Amino acid sequence: MKEIKKVGVLGGGLMGSGIAQVSAAAGFPTIVREISDQLAEKARGGITKMLNKGIERGKVTESQRDTTLGNLTFTTDVSTMSGCDIVIEAVVEDLELKNALWSDLNKVCPPETIFASNTSSLTIAAMAAACGRPEKMLGLHFFNPVPLMKLVEVVKTITTSDETAETAFEFVKRLGKEPIRAKDNSGFVVNLLLVPYMIDAINALESNVASVEDIDKGMQLGAGYPMGPFTLLDFVGLDTTYKIAEIMFDEYREKRYAPPPLLKRMVMAGMYGRKSGKGFYDYSQDPPKVSLLGL
Ligand code: CAA
Ligand code: NAD
Repeated sequence: MKEIKKVGVLGGGLMGSGIAQVSAAAGFPTIVREISDQLAEKARGGITKMLNKGIERGKVTESQRDTTLGNLTFTTDVSTMSGCDIVIEAVVEDLELKNALWSDLNKVCPPETIFASNTSSLTIAAMAAACGRPEKMLGLHFFNPVPLMKLVEVVKTITTSDETAETAFEFVKRLGKEPIRAKDNSGFVVNLLLVPYMIDAINALESNVASVEDIDKGMQLGAGYPMGPFTLLDFVGLDTTYKIAEIMFDEYREKRYAPPPLLKRMVMAGMYGRKSGKGFYDYSQDPPKVSLLGL
């Protein structure tokens, strides 16, 4: 089994930042690549804020925060990934963009570097074919918010070598996460079940079954979910959910994965959820208020 010593993360958005944080906290020197200095700085700021919140809650010590930040490097240069033993990709959910990146990385990284995608809905096979090292490619699917969510789905596709899968499985344990093995189908285990649930909530809203707040309250208090579906949708990002639903619908051609028209309209309006300040709720107010007053 290969020993992982240095980690690369592509993308410093919601997921990339979280993955980089847990990697650095577990003691791995970790390089995060973003597309501009401004976005790289935003990623560093987000991780620092999360660590400081952890200190406030007594979950992180000041020394752990400093060590974690000390293990992190931020860059815009893909070639700095050349010394990494594993590169985890967490850029936007777009196959062409991801495959263009894998192709660049394949030229930069030595042949033994493992390539892992955090995709929510694409198949690993669709990237393995394009990455130039199909036996080294697999899925490592983390959950949002990464520092708090225990699960990682480890996805072996038909070309992934056993050694790659086992190395990645052990690496996930060293991050302090719980790995499960999942098949390379669109949505793996969790999104196969969770995405139709989120879509159903939007369809229920469009059918005037109940208000945003009452649907959220219903699922929280009646089914024990930590967040209602609209709070969760805003948390995941409506832009990302829309892309995921489109990819899953394209794969399965089943109505339960079809992106609802309201979701599309909200994305067109720039209502991406928490990350843009407004989605089903308006986050400029504390506590956030429902932003859709009528459909
Ligand atoms: N650093 C370290 N620890 C922290 C922290 C921080 N910044 N902030 C909070 N914590 C700790 C708290 O101290 C608390 O610990 P204890 O349980 O030991 O007391 C724990 O984390 C929970 O914190 P809170 O009580 O503040 O928050 P919460 O109980 O409201 O839980 C949550 C927050 C974990 C996000 C919860 O709301 C939740 O599980 N939501 C659902 C998230 C979810 O479903 N994610 C999956 C999305 S789908 C996906 O990711 C896949 C995809 O491909 C789209
Ligand atoms: P995000 O929009 O928050 O972040 C994506 C980041 O990628 C942006 O900061 C963007 O600047 C950056 N980026 C774009 N092109 C890049 C490139 N060529 N090189 C480096 N960085 C680039 O999205 P996210 O929510 O972090 O999602 C990222 C991936 O993780 C997607 O594949 C998504 O499906 C998956 N995912 C998302 C969630 C979630 O809850 N949001 C959960 C699990 C998995």
